[in-house]
Amino acid sequence: MKPAFSASLAFLVLLTALVSLARAGGGVTPVHSAATEHSIDSILAGLTLQEKIGQLVQYTGGWSTGPAGRVINDEQRRLIKEGKAGSLLNVIGSSVTHELQKIAVEESRAKIPLLFGLDVIHGFKTTFPIPLAEAATWEADAVELSARVSATEAASAGVHWTFAPMVDIARDPRWGRIAEGSGEDPYLGSVMAAARVRGFQGRSLSDPTAIMACVKHYAAYGGAEGGRDYNTVDVSEQTLRDVYLPPFKAALDAGAGTFMASFNEINGVPSSGSRFLLTTILRDEWAFDGFVVSDWGSIGEMIPHGYAATPAHAAELAINAGLDMDMESRCYFENLQSLVDQKRVSTATLDLAVRRILRMKFRLGLFADPYHASTPEREAKTLRNAAHIEAARNVARKAIVLLKNERGILPLAKNVKTIAVIGPLAHNHRDPVGTWAGPTDTNNVVTLLDGVRAAVPASRVLFAPGCAIDGRDTAGISAAVTVARQADVVLLAVGESEDMSGEACCRSTLELPGRQGDLVRAVHATGKPVVLVLMNGRPLALSWEAANLPAILEAWFLGHETGHAIADVLFGSYAPSGRLPASFPRVTGQVPVYYNHKNTGRPSNDTVHYTSRYLDVASTPQFPFGFGLTYTSFSYADLAITSPRVKATDSVSVRITVKNTGSREGEEVVQLYVRDEVGSMTRPVKELKAYRRVRLQPGQTTSVTLSIAATDLAFTGADMRRRVEPGMFTAYVGPNAAEGLVGRFEVVE
Ligand code: BGC
Repeated sequence: MKPAFSASLAFLVLLTALVSLARAGGGVTPVHSAATEHSIDSILAGLTLQEKIGQLVQYTGGWSTGPAGRVINDEQRRLIKEGKAGSLLNVIGSSVTHELQKIAVEESRAKIPLLFGLDVIHGFKTTFPIPLAEAATWEADAVELSARVSATEAASAGVHWTFAPMVDIARDPRWGRIAEGSGEDPYLGSVMAAARVRGFQGRSLSDPTAIMACVKHYAAYGGAEGGRDYNTVDVSEQTLRDVYLPPFKAALDAGAGTFMASFNEINGVPSSGSRFLLTTILRDEWAFDGFVVSDWGSIGEMIPHGYAATPAHAAELAINAGLDMDMESRCYFENLQSLVDQKRVSTATLDLAVRRILRMKFRLGLFADPYHASTPEREAKTLRNAAHIEAARNVARKAIVLLKNERGILPLAKNVKTIAVIGPLAHNHRDPVGTWAGPTDTNNVVTLLDGVRAAVPASRVLFAPGCAIDGRDTAGISAAVTVARQADVVLLAVGESEDMSGEACCRSTLELPGRQGDLVRAVHATGKPVVLVLMNGRPLALSWEAANLPAILEAWFLGHETGHAIADVLFGSYAPSGRLPASFPRVTGQVPVYYNHKNTGRPSNDTVHYTSRYLDVASTPQFPFGFGLTYTSFSYADLAITSPRVKATDSVSVRITVKNTGSREGEEVVQLYVRDEVGSMTRPVKELKAYRRVRLQPGQTTSVTLSIAATDLAFTGADMRRRVEPGMFTAYVGPNAAEGLVGRFEVVE
């Protein structure tokens, strides 16, 4: 058989590379390049069945231990040399990726470059805030910047592909993976999904600073019953299409190169075997031309799901459903050859999967430069450079949400005499990096204590941990109380450990874990003003804290620059500007509590018995979606709908006057929610449709116009088609999902 990579093929490859370089990526799915498809035809024609299967197989290189890389074992070298691996994950560092890539492109017969994948979720060597916190910026540019920096660093270390963005809508904060996504809202989630794809993939996939995005987990993984990871999802097709799928589509429209099938089943069919998801929606409706990878072992997990009888059966179901690459389950590696021999999988199906994977390798430019310009020198210059650290601090402070600030306790005066920094998260290097921090070095975390000491003379700052995050030990609480008594103000840093959220890290209670509640009450009892600084990977239930403490700052897990970012906000060099991307319940038993719920026939009314409510808790959340304070205040007036009657092809504009009524400059996020009053299917009580950030000087007034296309009001009807129905709509414009001025407009035929 002739070598697959002939001279004429090499010319075509070069041409393709030039074409793709010339194409200004611009964040849209590139149209097929005829030259690339032709190159793929030639490669396919020269591959053995075993080599084709190899392209569909991804192995882990073991957990990565840093850019220096780990020593790869001989078994992996052999598989690469024999063309039995198309991709590796968890191998990082320019030297180790070079070494393996060299085997693939020089020693294997087909000479097809490997694809190196890694979970680059919120940073690489510079750790940014967890994605949920980044979503709290409500700023697409900040989120794009974080992904851009992460991509630049990861690409310099030989990574081609990230398993991100995670775009799962999460309405149940018990689910630990809410930390990895953008919260509860499809619109905000879509904005963030697209921003991350743009950031990761840059101008063009072949750019040396680009890494290919993988939108995950397709689909509805966040709908897990009871908020328990990997659990069953039973969801109507309308909710699937209107709530869970929009961020996937937004990521695809932004040019995402790959999708990852989720672990869960949906309505009885595991995603990895769902032809409906992987072919009908993804390929036929959305025309996606990249490839789909399974989640870790998810093809094999169709056996315990009770959907496949054997690994061979699982492989057959997955590839015929449209799943192209097998991450780690080995079902493809061990069974595809016999499935093709038995004609249970057609050569055309196999070739299509290989084609999609090769197409993305071409788009990444790997046939032209299999090393994607990563070198040890570039890596050393790129990782954690000063600009990246500065970007991490910037994004981190934007992610902080001020939840309460009574009597203007914040910002703190810099000349405040004595500050007590208390709590298990006050001087903690491990937890602020959050879940999925990859190759982070926790020594680089600036703790809250470090940040405060850098902002004011260290001699005025006292410290006591008080208690651990979890466990029953209360021994340190009295020392913390003694420290609090000596101070003028207490910064009390409590919350969760990084491993209480993320994969397989779900909680049945959302209150502060361990004895932290005792610590909070004891410190509060000193009578000193307490600023609660929360570090956590999910919304928490904080009704006692919200009722009793004067100031609460939601600081999530902010990454390496935690302490500086929080200090910037505490001392007012940065006025808080974050907004909640998910509702905070009052008590755990209230979940799911999300703002865009349906109304029911007996809408909740806490004073009327026979309504949809609990007897023992208010129906509203503690802090609503979209909520966040700053160091000034705003008023809203004069809501006007510029065209109260519109056609479904028109747009709707809502104008409002916003005034800074406080004494400091500040930013407000003006939010537009819409309710479709009557539909052929019932509609949510509110849905976020647009928002705009404005910065106003004290006393300044501005007019804000938010426009949406009437098509943005579409929903999925009983026939599964999206439609805008004529009728009356209510518009709400305000500072969060629970407040705002109201207007109405009509969509006419
Ligand atoms: C997770 C994915 C991740 C993959 C590879 C799985 O356990 O669910 O989100 O990308 O592992 O690390």
